[in-house]
Amino acid sequence: MRIGRATRNARFALTPPPSCLTDPAPMPPPAASPVPAPEPVILPERAGDRARVDALVSAAFGPGRYAKTAERLREGARPRADLSLVALAGRELVGAVRVWPVLIGADPALFLGPIAVDPAFRKHGLGSMLVQEVCARAASAGEAAILLVGDRPFFGPLGFQPVPPGRIVMPGPVDPARVLWKGLNGREIALAGPVSIAPVSR
Ligand SMILES: CC(C)(COP(=O)(O)OP(=O)(O)OC[C@H]1O[C@@H](n2cnc3c(N)ncnc32)[C@H](O)[C@@H]1OP(=O)(O)O)[C@@H](O)C(=O)NCCC(=O)NCCS
Repeated sequence: MRIGRATRNARFALTPPPSCLTDPAPMPPPAASPVPAPEPVILPERAGDRARVDALVSAAFGPGRYAKTAERLREGARPRADLSLVALAGRELVGAVRVWPVLIGADPALFLGPIAVDPAFRKHGLGSMLVQEVCARAASAGEAAILLVGDRPFFGPLGFQPVPPGRIVMPGPVDPARVLWKGLNGREIALAGPVSIAPVSR
């Protein structure tokens, strides 16, 4: 039997648990697991994970991903090491999400993507958990907002909303219905302007 999205999210281990995700109420014991064992744990991506993350993403999206406008915000840039995460089931890398520093106008923001979960581990809440963990860590880091290009049916329940028409300018063609963002720490998003790769801070 499948379990609800919110409930499923509690079934993956976080290392370390961010304070904003901790629930003071005692957790009920997990239901019988349909997830292939061992259950994934979520950790920051390390340099040694890079090839396996690339392989997972390539398998999920194919080579056409490099032609996407989102790639214009990643090429030549470095993902945020503190916010890009992997999910490990034992020694197997079964999920990944990357986060990139961008500017919206002159102000810093984050750009999320790609996110991918191994097909054998999908629909058990792992993709949602990766996004929620990124949001929690980004909020703790004092970031203002996370922008992405993705499917609203997946990201909407995770708090992402369409960017109002005309507010930002992406660096290429994109379906405006797929340009979503989320303000962090309960803040209204005041950002506007062209989206560009953030210069590397030294
Ligand atoms: C998107 C992805 C990361 C989700 O991972 P996951 O572990 O299956 O995610 P969850 O289990 O937390 O959530 C699954 C829910 O999101 C829905 N969902 C997943 N991908 C979706 C998509 N692209 N569009 C709409 N809904 C989607 C599922 O139908 C499911 O809905 P349900 O809870 O009503 O059954 C995974 O499907 C994947 O790797 N897809 C290929 C890569 C990709 O398309 N990434 C970008 C998506 S915009």
